[in-house]
Amino acid sequence: MEALAGRRSIRSYKEEPVSKDIVLDLIKAAETAPSAGNLRARKYVIVTNTQIRKTLAVAAYGQSQVETAPLLVVICADVLRSSRRYGDRGSLYSIQDAAAATMCLLLVAYDLGLGACWNGAFDDQIVKDALNLAKDVLPVAILSIGWPAESPRAPPARDQDEVVSWIE
Ligand SMILES: Cc1cc2nc3c(=O)[nH]c(=O)nc-3n(C[C@H](O)[C@H](O)[C@H](O)COP(=O)(O)O)c2cc1C
Repeated sequence: MEALAGRRSIRSYKEEPVSKDIVLDLIKAAETAPSAGNLRARKYVIVTNTQIRKTLAVAAYGQSQVETAPLLVVICADVLRSSRRYGDRGSLYSIQDAAAATMCLLLVAYDLGLGACWNGAFDDQIVKDALNLAKDVLPVAILSIGWPAESPRAPPARDQDEVVSWIE
């Protein structure tokens, strides 16, 4: 509960890099996520290259945290892998696999003292081209990650009555 309540989207980072060992821990955390049929229909592209970060920031409509973060993890849905077993439903499952992994990664990033932001607003095609993704691999989230240089307040929560319905 502490991590769930304390995690925030962090968009400002120190210049200090994130070590490879930590990156591997983040991926390990992501891979603990549940997955439809345990197919684990997701892929991770790890980007530290300055030029590719710039290109991805352009793809993300100029969002500066995508360029300034020392580390980007692009979490992708492996649509083909899931569709081979589940047909049309596979597309949704692979996106859910990727989203579940994203959340696990974000929580462990917070636990390790990192700051991270889930960036979902981007042009798919520019990202696919920049990362050489196969046709059936869909980028779902660009996670910008680094050592935090801000500590924003929690946004207001929605009233539970607005989002919960009970069927008794
Ligand atoms: C699917 C999705 C897409 C998002 N896309 C962006 C984005 O493109 N840029 C951004 O700055 N934040 C993005 N966010 C982060 C949200 O703005 C953020 O989670 C929300 O404002 C709540 O703040 P919190 O994460 O600190 O609780 C995205 C979050 C989700 C779940």
